[in-house]
Amino acid sequence: MSMKIPFIKSKQQRNPMVSFSDNVPNHVAIIMDGNGRWAEQRGLPRVAGHKEGVKAVMKVVRAANQSKVKILTLYAFSTENWNRPKSEIDFIMKLPKEFLHVYLPELMENNVRVETIGDFDALPAHTQKAVQYAKNKTKDNDGLLLNFALNYGSRYEIMQAIKQIMDDIYGNKVTLDSLNEEMFSKYLYTDGLSDPDLLIRTSGEKRLSNFLLWQLAYSEFWFTDVLWPDMDENIFNEAIQDYQKRKRRYGGI
Ligand code: IPE
Ligand code: IPE
Ligand code: MG
Repeated sequence: MSMKIPFIKSKQQRNPMVSFSDNVPNHVAIIMDGNGRWAEQRGLPRVAGHKEGVKAVMKVVRAANQSKVKILTLYAFSTENWNRPKSEIDFIMKLPKEFLHVYLPELMENNVRVETIGDFDALPAHTQKAVQYAKNKTKDNDGLLLNFALNYGSRYEIMQAIKQIMDDIYGNKVTLDSLNEEMFSKYLYTDGLSDPDLLIRTSGEKRLSNFLLWQLAYSEFWFTDVLWPDMDENIFNEAIQDYQKRKRRYGGI
């Protein structure tokens, strides 16, 4: 018999000031940045920051789940991150397995579904294997969707979509006239997902770094100087609370 593992509540999460009753973002996307600087500040190798960052991932998953966020998309590795030293890339590519080894049981117990966006086939075989196992194992869970952007690049995604659309037009599967924004979205990795309501980036950088360029067209942005390994439930909740105060106008009045 399996025991229900509760998502641990931090002190501040019990703070009555935090109200998740209304206007909770359906989809939160996060650019998890600052692992290298976190390590450098401590005189540690950069990879120590990546290792520490894994714990922050789970803290945010728990907070998202508690606040009833439905989709959490985490930018874990960009198509541009291949420009890093091989030793750092090799280290990062082992992290999904480590993360899932420790936390997959907790994800299962809490009904979390694991998915990815990005060029999955170009990942190392061992990374694909570990992630694919988690995807299969969690595929019927209907709680929080934990969506990792792994080897993700928005321009590549859009180029692939255009190529596929052209192919479908030449193959008479779709007509040029029927192409609209909704149909275009179906050719993206994020097919079936609502656009992010809230984008969070840690580490003080204020740029998108090729993340979800199409999907973030009308998202709310929230930035913090906190480096990713220091990210926790409180800071996540701060972002949610800030979002809850915002007025989204979509060009209207
Ligand atoms: C984010 O932290 C993690 C990845 C991009 C994989 P960084 O490694 O970019 O950390 P900084 O920005 O160098 O501090
Ligand atoms: C963006 O962070 C990619 C991820 C968080 C996975 P980077 O650290 O790679 O972005 P830049 O280089 O600062 O734009
Ligand atoms: Mg960075």
